[in-house]
Amino acid sequence: MKFTVINYLLSFVIINVAILTVAIAGESERQIGYGRGGRMQGGAVSERSKEPIQPIPVSFDYDRAKVELGKKLFFEPRLSKSGWITCNSCHNLSTGGADNLPSSIGHKWLFGPINSPTVLNAKFNVAQFWDGRAKDLKEQAKGPIANPMEMASNHELAVSVLQSIPEYVGWFKEVYKDEKITMDNVADAIAAFEETLTTPNSRFDWWLKDYDDKLSEFEKEGYDLFKAKGCINCHNGFGVGGNSFQKFGIAKPYDKDTQTLGRYNVTKYEKDKHVFKVPLLRNIELTAPYFHDASTWNLSEAVNIMAEYQLGITLTAGETNKIVAFLRTLTGDQPSIIFPILPPSTANTQKPDRN
Ligand code: HEC
Ligand code: HEC
Repeated sequence: MKFTVINYLLSFVIINVAILTVAIAGESERQIGYGRGGRMQGGAVSERSKEPIQPIPVSFDYDRAKVELGKKLFFEPRLSKSGWITCNSCHNLSTGGADNLPSSIGHKWLFGPINSPTVLNAKFNVAQFWDGRAKDLKEQAKGPIANPMEMASNHELAVSVLQSIPEYVGWFKEVYKDEKITMDNVADAIAAFEETLTTPNSRFDWWLKDYDDKLSEFEKEGYDLFKAKGCINCHNGFGVGGNSFQKFGIAKPYDKDTQTLGRYNVTKYEKDKHVFKVPLLRNIELTAPYFHDASTWNLSEAVNIMAEYQLGITLTAGETNKIVAFLRTLTGDQPSIIFPILPPSTANTQKPDRN
């Protein structure tokens, strides 16, 4: 799969960076990440590279000018009809890349139909949205700008607003070599910024790199349970989820929300009713409430619901506590964002419209 290959390549690049770091700092071999095939610096293979969860790469290549532009657009309220809503309104980077609301508040205070997933690590998703209707971040980014319940603008208007501001014209020209701003390029820049929103260096990732003391015995037992009980079958990979679509209610029909059809909306296959993209569990302690219908604010309860509806088992209180303790070790370094300063509107810039 393309996504896996790229990430393996990325981790390979990191190894080279790591070798440099080690040469300078004189660290021991055990202290660096592993790359392709689980090979450590010096040729040793870490047993933990065979674990079904992989550490998030710590560094990767990106196009700085494009990412800076995408960051401005992510925080640009003039992409919304009201001139007030930004991507960050619902994917707040101060609060785990989500809004911590049962469902988002959009244009004219309209409540959306579904809980907003985090943008952090979204690049590890096999597709975007709960039902996977956008194939990648670029395709996704065009959606909310024109969604009447979200930013309520339209693509022509959003582009004309940017086109009316000379600084944007200059930045787009620098990145895309084109005088004319296009929606495609707006989405491309936003996606490039989102690609950088990863959260490496969680305690669990350090443990995966052989730093034993990063996890307590209790947390480690939680991870063992996560595997032994079967959570790992759906929540695995870089994002601890995000790489498959699964029915919510495999072992027992999920009765709290029977209206949201999920993947069925895309495929129209009967078997895809109530099938959703498996959410990423990275930084899960930051992104309550849980599930597409936000049916619980409590992580322990979310774990118990999963056990009941997905696995058909009941966990003891002790087991739930251990799994939750493990899940809390998945919180990584949050992206440190220098808040962008946006250029002023001109006489030609469309005025905000609250209606
Ligand atoms: C009014 C709130 C709101 C705004 C504004 C908003 N989003 Fe979202 N976003 C959501 C909701 C709700 C979903 C889930 C919708 C669904 O799955 O049907 C979502 C889904 C996503 C996803 C998919 C994540 C996943 O795990 O599938 C990404 C990525 C994303 N938004 C990025 C953006 C970007 C970029 C912008 C700005 C251009 C933006 N959003 C603006 C609420 C919002
Ligand atoms: C058969 C696949 C499958 C198994 C097994 C599974 N999950 Fe899930 N998990 C999902 C899906 C699908 C969702 C999204 C459900 C929804 O909201 O529609 C989910 C959601 C979650 C959420 C909420 C995430 C969020 O952002 O809202 C948590 C927490 C979670 N799972 C933990 C676990 C734990 C712990 C286990 C083991 C006890 C487990 N899961 C087993 C598929 C699975």
